[in-house]
Amino acid sequence: MTSLKQLSLPSGQVRVHGMTTSNCLRALTPLLAVVYVRAVGAPSSNSPIDNVADHLAIRRNPAQFGVEVVDGSLWMDGVSLRTIADAVGTPAYIYSAAHIEARYRSLSEALGERQHLLCYAVKANSSQAVLRLLAKLGAGADIVSGGELQRALAAGIDGKKIVFSGVGKTDAEIDAALTTPIKAIHIESADELTRVEARARALGVVAPVGLRVNPDIDPDTHPYLATGLRDSKFGITMGQAVELAARAGQSPHLELEAITCHIGSQIMDAGPFLASYERLRGLLAELRGRGIQPRTLDLGGGLGIAYSGEEQPVDVATFGKQIVEATKDLGMQLVLEPGRFLVGNAGVLLTRVIGRKRGETRSFVIVDAAMNDLVRPALYAARHPIVPVTLPEPTAELERVDIVGPVCECGDFLAEQRLFTRVGAGDLLAVCGAGAYGMTMASTYNTRPIAPEVMACDGKFAVTRARKSVADLIAEETIPAWLA
Ligand code: LLP
Repeated sequence: MTSLKQLSLPSGQVRVHGMTTSNCLRALTPLLAVVYVRAVGAPSSNSPIDNVADHLAIRRNPAQFGVEVVDGSLWMDGVSLRTIADAVGTPAYIYSAAHIEARYRSLSEALGERQHLLCYAVKANSSQAVLRLLAKLGAGADIVSGGELQRALAAGIDGKKIVFSGVGKTDAEIDAALTTPIKAIHIESADELTRVEARARALGVVAPVGLRVNPDIDPDTHPYLATGLRDSKFGITMGQAVELAARAGQSPHLELEAITCHIGSQIMDAGPFLASYERLRGLLAELRGRGIQPRTLDLGGGLGIAYSGEEQPVDVATFGKQIVEATKDLGMQLVLEPGRFLVGNAGVLLTRVIGRKRGETRSFVIVDAAMNDLVRPALYAARHPIVPVTLPEPTAELERVDIVGPVCECGDFLAEQRLFTRVGAGDLLAVCGAGAYGMTMASTYNTRPIAPEVMACDGKFAVTRARKSVADLIAEETIPAWLA
C-alpha cells in the first residue's frame, strides 16, 4: 500500500504523514481531495496531485465533463462509453449532443433579448455532425480557411451567418467568401483590405468587411493562445482601424459591416474581455464622430472551460449580462465566436491501456491514444482529466504515473506524474475535455490513422467519421513513375 508521504509531493503541498492512502482517504475523502487541490491552486498544467480530484470531480459533477455516471461507469447521452468502445474500438472521440446543445442555449440565453449571433469557431471541432447540430440550433460559423467555409456550408450553416477570420487569406479564399457570399471578411491588415477590395472589384461585388482590431489586452492564458497583445500577429492597431474604416467607407467595393476583436483562448476571467470592450467602445465613439457606424460588434471567442473539478470558469449568465450592459447603448448586433466553450467538455477521447512499464524513476501507463490524437498536453502543457471508464472507488489505492502514448517522442504524454488508480492492460480510460482542439489538431504521425468520431444523443450513438485503415492512408499517395 502506498503511503502519502512516499508520494514525495512537491513542496508547498499538503502532506499527511504516517497514514496509508486508503486509510487516509477513507477517513477524509472527498474533503481531502478538495483541500489538496486548493493547496496548490487551480491546476493549469499536469499538476501531480490533482488527479485525486479527477474521478471525484467527475462523480461530483459529471455533467460538467459531458458524461453521466451510471452504476459507477461513465455514460454519455444515455449510452455506455464501454458499449461505444466495444463497437468502434479505441482510440475514439465521443461527443455529447446534449452537452453542446445545453452550452449553446446557456450562452444564447445569457445574452437574452439582445440581438445576437453565435458564430461557432469551426476550428475547435469541425465534425460535420457537430456543425449540423449547431446549424440546427441557429448558430453561424467563424471560419479561418476556405476549407472551413466548405465544411460549414456542407453542414448547412447559412453563409449569411459566417464570418471569416485569420491572418493569411489567399485570393482564392477571398473569392470563395465573396461569391458565397458570407456575413463578413475580417480584415487583419491594410494590405488585406486592399486585396479584398481588388477581388471585390474584379468580381463586381461589394465586400462586407469587419476590421479586427488588436486591443493590446493580456488575457492571462497560455502565451500561444494570447492573440490580442500588441506583439501578436493578429489584428490591426486602434489607430489604423480609424484610417481603414474611413477607406472602407469611401470604396464602392467595400462595406464596413463590423468591428471585431478576439483577445485569446481559454480565458478564465471576465476581466480581460471587459477591458477589451472598453477599448472597442472608445474606437466606436471615434468612428461615430466621423460618421462611420458599423452594424455589428463581434467580440470573438475565448471563453475558457474547466479542465479539472477545481477550475472556476467565467459564469456565463453573469458574463452575458456584463456584455449586454457594456454594449447596450451601441445599437449594434452582437456576435460572439465561441469554440471551446460549446464543445470542449462535450468530448472524451476513449483509449485502452496497452500495458505498463517501470522505468528507473517513473512508472508509465502506455495507452493506445497518443499526441497525434490529442496534442494539447505536448503543445501547451495542457491538463486533461483522465479517468477509468469504470470509475475507481473514492478510496482506491493511488500511484504516480505518466500516461503516455506509443508515439516515438518524449513529448508524447497525455498526463505527466498524475496520481492514478492502478490500471492494467485492456482497461478503458476516458480523456475528458477532448471535444475542442482534439480531432481538429490530430495528425497521422507515426502512420497512425485519425481516430473515429462518434456522436451520442438521447440513448443512441452514430459513427460520424469512420476509422481509416493504414491501407487508406497509403492509397492517398503515389509513387512517381521514375521510381516504378
Ligand atoms: N475566434 C477567433 C478569431 C479565434 O482565433 C479563435 C481561436 C476563436 C474564435 C475560438 O476560440 P475559443 O472560443 O475556442 O477559445 N489550439 C488551442 C486553441 C487555439 C485557439 C485559436 N483561436 C488549444 O488547443 O487550446
